Amino acid sequence: MIKAIKGVKDLLPEESPRWRFIEDTGRRWAQRYGFQEIRVPIFETTMLFARSIGATTDIVEKEMYTFADRDGSSLTLRPEGTAGTVRAFIEHNRAADPRPQKFYYTGPMFRHERPQAGRLRQFHQFGVESFGIANPRADVEVISLLWRLLSDLSLPGLTLEINNLGYSDDRARYKPLLVAFLKSVETRLCANCQRRIEGNPLRVLDCKVPDCRSATEDAPRLADSLSPAARDHFACVTAGLQSVGIPFDLNPRLVRGLDYYCLTAFEVTCSHLGAQNAVGAGGRYDGLVEQLGGPAVPAVGFAVGLERIALMMPDAVIVPSAPRIYVAAFGTKAVDVGCALLDELRQAGVPADMDFRSTSLKAHLRQADRLGALYTILLGDDEIEKGTATLRNMQTKAQEDLPLRDLVSSLQGRLRTPESAPFSS
Ligand code: HAM
Repeated sequence: MIKAIKGVKDLLPEESPRWRFIEDTGRRWAQRYGFQEIRVPIFETTMLFARSIGATTDIVEKEMYTFADRDGSSLTLRPEGTAGTVRAFIEHNRAADPRPQKFYYTGPMFRHERPQAGRLRQFHQFGVESFGIANPRADVEVISLLWRLLSDLSLPGLTLEINNLGYSDDRARYKPLLVAFLKSVETRLCANCQRRIEGNPLRVLDCKVPDCRSATEDAPRLADSLSPAARDHFACVTAGLQSVGIPFDLNPRLVRGLDYYCLTAFEVTCSHLGAQNAVGAGGRYDGLVEQLGGPAVPAVGFAVGLERIALMMPDAVIVPSAPRIYVAAFGTKAVDVGCALLDELRQAGVPADMDFRSTSLKAHLRQADRLGALYTILLGDDEIEKGTATLRNMQTKAQEDLPLRDLVSSLQGRLRTPESAPFSS
């Protein structure tokens, strides 16, 4: 038997309503905040990711799915959505457009990580990117969107952590201080962090290994090397979050695994997720558009992991997508009329179904129950003669005869009543 690749998951029909609900909620919130959908390719030239995410990051060093195209050029399955969105922004000269350039996207991303609960090799993100606004209010807008969206999904135990990563000059001033400190505690660090001292010393600060945590407790603080402008920006962000009532914790160790960030970096974690507890994360990346060959355009964004949201979202918030009506027809004539009725119901926007294999009343009703139908239409040759059908309420088991003529409009009316609405297709 050929099986799916490790770390890659099928989404079976039972899980689809949950996923669609999450994606629809993301879209609705993003549109409320003035973001518009963008769809960028799943694969790009490898150079795009190496130059944006950073050559010394875990993603670029060991997690990318990279392959040679037939002409020998190096391509990579996208490990995240920001780089491709920035590439599209530059390529289509969107900086020249006077309208706000605020995009959202959803789709699969690929990272060769060790699979575990909430960590996959093909996973899905919903993300937003806001271009052109250096004002800290753009950071607040994006964080607020993230927070409102996750709260609307009723995720339990959420915490928003934020940090100020400063400008690149601030970090350049800070790095030698940090490297000198890390060298003094090198032997206490994990092998990964020892390697990072020269290449990516800031990442040592957010290593989760307990020994690395205790070894870096007295490390010099980036906060002490920040310029007044970086401090002011961050103070506006925290004040803005307070003014819209979004709770947050300051986490001076929050660095993030992508190199493009500056100033504001943030992450939302969920206490119920175990080791892979980040539900969503993002930050400001003012230098990236220019670094990839575009004009100097500030930007800020985030992405959430849909698998992690799906794991945590309570069942109660999901709208079932069961067919509302089941058509049970017996007898040759009745089956023909039943099929026509089925078609009419579907055209009228009513989710309806029939099992063409079933012949007995018992078998039909069993299928109607399994499918979660609200009503079953019972149609026999006798009813057809009389021009009626029997409508059975599957919860109360009450039955009534209705004229076939009015059936579709009558059902549309009933399905609009509060106890049966909303019906989703
Ligand atoms: P990221 O922190 O690498 O940021 O990923 C964002 C979210 O994607 C994570 O918080 C997590 O929920 C989910 N995620 C990441 N890796 C996996 C995985 N292997 N399996 C399942 N879920 C995963 C970014 O990707 C940035 N592009 C976010 C951003 C947008 N920054 C600015 N704009």
